[in-house]
Amino acid sequence: MSKVFVSDHPLIAHKVTMLRDENTSVKEFRELVNEIAILMSYDVTKDLTLKPYKVKTPITETEGKVIEKQVALVPILRAGLGFVDALMSTIPAAKVGHIGLYRDPKTLLPVEYYCKLPTDIADRQVIVLDPMLATGGSSIAAIDFIKKRGARKIKLMCMIGAPEGVKAVQEKHPDVDIYLAALDEKLNDHGYIVPGLGDAGDRLFGTL
Ligand code: PRP
Ligand code: URA
Repeated sequence: MSKVFVSDHPLIAHKVTMLRDENTSVKEFRELVNEIAILMSYDVTKDLTLKPYKVKTPITETEGKVIEKQVALVPILRAGLGFVDALMSTIPAAKVGHIGLYRDPKTLLPVEYYCKLPTDIADRQVIVLDPMLATGGSSIAAIDFIKKRGARKIKLMCMIGAPEGVKAVQEKHPDVDIYLAALDEKLNDHGYIVPGLGDAGDRLFGTL
């Protein structure tokens, strides 16, 4: 069974609370998502492997370490885009693939409308990005597509998760660890996370 890491860092807890506030502006929301993603990237990348690397300081030569395994970030459109700048700043060599999914409002099932991944996805540590893990349908579908294209090492990074979505992803993809800034109470009848923060894509891009 996969592991679920829920942040207990005070800075993340503070920023998630600001994010939930319905009075938070689009600009502030975007900034908070970016800041939370930077803080979360520390844990998500904790097990990246290192290789020796010779470096010459102004004083002497020494052997340092650099990241060995290459990373592929795969945001789920649209809201996953909110994580990309942050992760690109902490992992500059990462390649970025995109998966476009939307939830059919009636069935709540994910529909794929776009998929473009790095060709060497099989050799990379993939980090799937989506701020919201609600029913889990979008993340499960995205991970299905990525696995079909050869990816073997996948992590899922979300901001807010519902217990229902976490369970669903663990059942379908028991090899994929999940990283959350907060684990909420439940889903409502419309598939929204309670207390949640509303529609992440709309709040990120001002399409409320
Ligand atoms: C939201 C969110 C996730 C999905 C989560 O996207 O960004 O992708 O819902 O719900 P699920 O776990 O039940 O699948 P949405 O479908 O609203 O699309 P958007 O990002 O384009 O707004
Ligand atoms: N998608 C969102 O953006 N928010 C939710 O609460 C559930 C799905």
